[in-house]
Amino acid sequence: MKSVKISASGIQKVYNPGDTNEVLAIEDLNLDVREGEFVSLLGPSGCGKSTFLFMVGGFEKPTAGSLMMSGETIRGPGADRGIVFQEYVLFPWQRVSANIAYGLKIAGVPKPEQERRIAELIAMIGLQGFEEAYPESLSGGMKQRVAIARALAYDPDILLMDEPFGALDAQTRSRMIADLIRIHQATHKTTLFVTHSVEESILLSDRVVLFTARPARIKEIFKIDLPHPRSVTDSEFVHYEKAILGSLDEEVSKTIAANRDL
Ligand SMILES: Nc1ncnc2c1ncn2[C@@H]1O[C@H](COP(=O)(O)OP(=O)(O)O)[C@@H](O)[C@H]1O
Ligand SMILES: [Mg+2]
Repeated sequence: MKSVKISASGIQKVYNPGDTNEVLAIEDLNLDVREGEFVSLLGPSGCGKSTFLFMVGGFEKPTAGSLMMSGETIRGPGADRGIVFQEYVLFPWQRVSANIAYGLKIAGVPKPEQERRIAELIAMIGLQGFEEAYPESLSGGMKQRVAIARALAYDPDILLMDEPFGALDAQTRSRMIADLIRIHQATHKTTLFVTHSVEESILLSDRVVLFTARPARIKEIFKIDLPHPRSVTDSEFVHYEKAILGSLDEEVSKTIAANRDL
């Protein structure tokens, strides 16, 4: 059995505690993610998915509970976590190779090793020939590939992805999904992947974790027992999809009802 990589126990997150604009985002969240696992987080908009990811990233602190990575309490951001957001955060003034090299330079990796690593990552994301291009000349999908390569550059223990394909068109998105599966199979990075797409979550994940409407708790965990590559038309796939959509719809309705009462 693989060891536990991320362990969340009794996590609570209150924004602006004691203030008039206090928000209870997360309430008593418990989740263990094992080494090498690909876990998707799904839930209604505003339920606390990004908040949880930010806490694992070390950018926010839980107001109660224990959040650990590799057996140690998470106290801040670190190079052991690679992060990819929906909006590509590339440096527009730097070429693709320099964008990918960013973390390696900071870490003081020697130049030849940097170059070897960049070549490897460029091949992994399929952007050979674009090493010298500037971000503005790349499509959305290509920029997101560079962002993934940059997150992988210093070989982090885990990958945190927040709706990374949310802004991409359907065709580009399905190619990115296939590539991410391939990258995961090659690197076995423990991955937390926030999405609002049920289909995306089933295509990618070992487990799909469904959050309740805010304040977030875990409503249900779906273990996806399907070999890769997965097909959206497969009857078992459709079965998972119906089950997850049904459960998610209940939470979305609660969110809508709560907002009506405001
Ligand atoms: N920095 C913040 N300050 C105050 N409230 C916040 C902050 N970030 C998020 N929230 C609130 O916390 C709740 C959960 O937000 P978020 O984690 O972004 O949801 P999700 O990613 O699931 O859409 C929302 O009600 C949001 O408005
Ligand atoms: Mg979010």
